[in-house]
Amino acid sequence: MASLAPPASIPEKFTLPTLPEVPGADPKRFIADAFKVAAAQIVADAFEEKIEKIYPAVEMGKKGTDLSIPIVRFKKGKPADLEVWAKKVIDNFKPSVFLSKASSPDNKFLYFQFNQESFTYHLLRQITLTAEAAANEPSNPTLAYGTTNEGAGKHLVVDFSSPNIAKPFHAGHLRSTIIGTVISNLYEANGWRVTRLNYLGDWGTQYGLLSVGFDKYGSEEELLADPIQHLFKVYVKINEARAQQKERIDAGETISDEESIHAQAKRVFRAMEDGEPQAIAQWARFRDLSIEKLKLTYEKLNVHFDVYWGESQVSPESMQRAIDICEEKGLTCEDRGALLVDLTKFKMDRAIIRKADGTTIYLTRDLGGAFDKYQKYKFDKHIYVVQAAQSLHFRQLFKTLELMGEEFAGKLEHVTFGLVKGMSTRKGTVVFLEDMIEEATETMHEQMRSNEAKYAQVEDPEGTSAIIGTTAVKIQDMAGRRINDYDFDIKRCTSFEGDFGPFIQYSHVRLCSVQRKNPNVHLATSVNEIDVHLLNEPKINEILYHIALYPTAVRNAYLQSEPSQLVTWCFKLSHLVGAAWETVKVAGAEEETAKARLFLYIQTREVLANAMKLLSLTPIERM
Ligand code: ARG
Repeated sequence: MASLAPPASIPEKFTLPTLPEVPGADPKRFIADAFKVAAAQIVADAFEEKIEKIYPAVEMGKKGTDLSIPIVRFKKGKPADLEVWAKKVIDNFKPSVFLSKASSPDNKFLYFQFNQESFTYHLLRQITLTAEAAANEPSNPTLAYGTTNEGAGKHLVVDFSSPNIAKPFHAGHLRSTIIGTVISNLYEANGWRVTRLNYLGDWGTQYGLLSVGFDKYGSEEELLADPIQHLFKVYVKINEARAQQKERIDAGETISDEESIHAQAKRVFRAMEDGEPQAIAQWARFRDLSIEKLKLTYEKLNVHFDVYWGESQVSPESMQRAIDICEEKGLTCEDRGALLVDLTKFKMDRAIIRKADGTTIYLTRDLGGAFDKYQKYKFDKHIYVVQAAQSLHFRQLFKTLELMGEEFAGKLEHVTFGLVKGMSTRKGTVVFLEDMIEEATETMHEQMRSNEAKYAQVEDPEGTSAIIGTTAVKIQDMAGRRINDYDFDIKRCTSFEGDFGPFIQYSHVRLCSVQRKNPNVHLATSVNEIDVHLLNEPKINEILYHIALYPTAVRNAYLQSEPSQLVTWCFKLSHLVGAAWETVKVAGAEEETAKARLFLYIQTREVLANAMKLLSLTPIERM
């Protein structure tokens, strides 16, 4: 693949004439744009309009045609008048290396058909060339087919996953992890520099409580074996003990300040906020051990972070500065000793920024944190991927920064998502990421075992089921628009039947197996080695057309922070490949035809693998 030879020259019959440069068209990256410009040119000439005006109206993906342009967008009049314009285009039309046919069945739209062979040739050529460039420079994510470099020079910070130490990793964290990773990938694929930041919930009174709990119930051994599980267990226990004390107090008993768990926890947290070394040391250990464990788990999901930050890391100066500016600008009010920003005018309620005992709170830390991050990263954009339940919090955060007059307030964005219903594992309703991955893996393993013959051929059933299992969980999460709620159903999403994760992996496996199963068919490395004429059949043309739509799917996913756009594209491609499979065979076909088809399947696999990687999936070769 990684040959350094210059791209082979284009045969004369497929040589494309130079086209005008049109804003929005990027044929060097998206060859379909060249064909769109050609159609726009024809209409622009006939309509006596500027091509820049026509081009944005050229549409791909309309049923029954390759390209369409709405006449009514440019010409008004009675149907008979429109017919005159349609006729003018059609009468002047000459088949070219771009387009073979123009028609207007209803005089509302102009339809153009590609010169199919030329289109096939150029699309396949572009895929091989970009694949080669990407293979030669694997660290550059803007070389693969479907990517752009338009974010070059810009820096994005993405805050995602962001679980709380000593608490379960809930469905909201899972979704944030999955969606945040894909958003990061999409921005990188469009030239942005991306900092992936995990903003741990690692500060607050509850960590004082945890510390008290650990002194009472902690086990050094269990802590080292599984810090996340153990700290959670300790946390639950101390919380129960505190609740029991409270009941006793409510029943009239007096409990000394020394004995009171609540008071102890407050004292420890106070000491932590004051930076007392002993209080900090224990907490820091809990934090470090939890991060180590988290990293191992994230790895299983192809998720990584550039920075493990957290509420504890926000500088006190920034928080104080935020409070001071809010007060100076008259944004605050007081209530029972607490300080609040008053956003009632904006229908955003009032929000505490300093508690009555002088300690900080979630919002204070996000305010100060925004200062810290802007100072450090000078980001052009900062996305917080957090569940919809926190919408008010982020609206308050952004509004407060705006009222404070911070220039970066407009660069902050909350990417939100809906609920997951019914998420629980065999171990119970409290979900740890680790258990969830394990369960997905096991369920997948069971599914695979149900086909004994196939199962026997899989080299590494454990590893394979882990990859397909996590694929299943991720695809279930990203299949619908992110704002929608969904029901977590491990049995269903690991099914090989229907539009679930395993189906996408299965399509990739099939596209790999066609090469393995046909070792005698010549492996072309350039489209010049095949006869594209032999590929001209409806089922293949549909695959190619869909591959030409891939850059649009990537673009929509990127612009809308909406992974589902890409998932939908993958499902459609998988269906098209499935439909071609039985009839457009490589095995048994005449030599040249077999060669051309194999080449097509390999390029299809290349693009599917690109899409899967953007979705943070590991494309597998056998299952
Ligand atoms: N730790 C928080 C939670 O579990 C999420 C943090 C999201 N990020 C932020 N900057 N507030 O609810």
